[in-house]
Amino acid sequence: MKKVLIVGGGGREHAIAWKLKQGKEAPELYCAPGNGGISDIATCVDIGATEIKKMVEWAKDNAMDLVFVAPDDPLALGMVDALAAEGIRAFGPSKDAAEIEGSKAYSKWLMKKYGIPTAAFEVFDNEADALAYLETAKMPIVVKADGLALGKGVLICNTLAEAEAAVQEIMVDKKFGDAGSRVVIEEFMVGPEVSVLAFCDGKTILPMLSAQDHKRAYDNDEGKNTGGMGTFAPTPKYTDEVRTFCEKEVFQKTVDALNAEGRPFKGVIFFGLMLTDEGPKVLEYNARLGDPECQSVFLMMKNDLLDIIDAVIDGELDEITLEWEPGSAVCVVMASGGYPGSYDKGIEIAGLDDVDGDVVVFHAGTKKENGTYYTNGGRVLGVTARGEDIPAAREKAYANVEKIHFDGAHYRKDIGIK
Ligand code: AMP
Ligand code: GLY
Repeated sequence: MKKVLIVGGGGREHAIAWKLKQGKEAPELYCAPGNGGISDIATCVDIGATEIKKMVEWAKDNAMDLVFVAPDDPLALGMVDALAAEGIRAFGPSKDAAEIEGSKAYSKWLMKKYGIPTAAFEVFDNEADALAYLETAKMPIVVKADGLALGKGVLICNTLAEAEAAVQEIMVDKKFGDAGSRVVIEEFMVGPEVSVLAFCDGKTILPMLSAQDHKRAYDNDEGKNTGGMGTFAPTPKYTDEVRTFCEKEVFQKTVDALNAEGRPFKGVIFFGLMLTDEGPKVLEYNARLGDPECQSVFLMMKNDLLDIIDAVIDGELDEITLEWEPGSAVCVVMASGGYPGSYDKGIEIAGLDDVDGDVVVFHAGTKKENGTYYTNGGRVLGVTARGEDIPAAREKAYANVEKIHFDGAHYRKDIGIK
């Protein structure tokens, strides 16, 4: 049996493990660091996702056939390069290719150079120049920390004062550390947002079903930004017309651009798109599967994930056709009380055994001790269901959310309504 190590420990990694287990030759799974739910189907290994040296050594010592590097930070730190250097088969982009997520300035520069539609922008390495530019700029405007900032480095500013405060926070107060040594200041766009995750082997790009995330903490998109409070897939906003445009003007152009720059991309590219009046534009790239987009999308996928992973690594993605279940999937995230602010951990989770057999509860921040699950993070669970359409999937997901309890739990009631 093949041995596969998944790097990470959130809902996305649980979805990857679950999907691999459904395959025709279900591999022996390991996950570092994993979580409570993952520990039911994989052996969890106590190594942090960014501990490159330890991870590579462990993978080598334990003869892993494949390592799937799922989160952004080990990719940006070059974990896939380090594994490859030791002859270990790894899924995910190289450090160079992952820079499309690791540096917003790099991704914007790439899009500009290769004519990929995105918001107009300027990049600044120092505060004085950024502030001088803001004096002449039109509001609202968007100020972004260049580097990885746990999805929190984007500030939408309605007034000049807010924009100046954003530059102060990012560049001077270093709220996001070194990620804020540089800022991207860009045009504010309006329109619905769509996420498209796509497998890429460096030549062929294979988009998955579209998905829609819900980033704000509370109903009606109120409250602070989070890592994502729920998703559905596919989204009706991603029409055939939008898809045709994106395939030609965004997806293939991005693959070609990265090749032209000598940074072939192998792994998953996540296109964050905004459907503006002027057509679809790229909000951001991620160099990995989205969380919780992946949970909804994988519930819809018919293919054996291991076949796709092998095709990506071997450059044979042109031989794969993605196949999808009919209908829709909805994932509702149950979060700890207080999230995305501070929250308690170690609260007992009840009711998981009562969930319907065809509903999948992906664990994010959980741990398991003596057979009992406890909360162990901000986003705790992703209750994911399929139905003949979005309302049916929604109803099923929420009926099961109501069966699960932990003190302080909160979740949005409007996933899939918008
Ligand atoms: P990002 O991490 O770049 O995707 O930004 C996080 C969120 O900020 C996006 O999902 C959008 O909702 C919003 N955002 C980012 N850039 C812009 C923009 N140029 N105009 C409007 N909203 C934006
Ligand atoms: N759900 C958004 C992300 O994974 O970045």
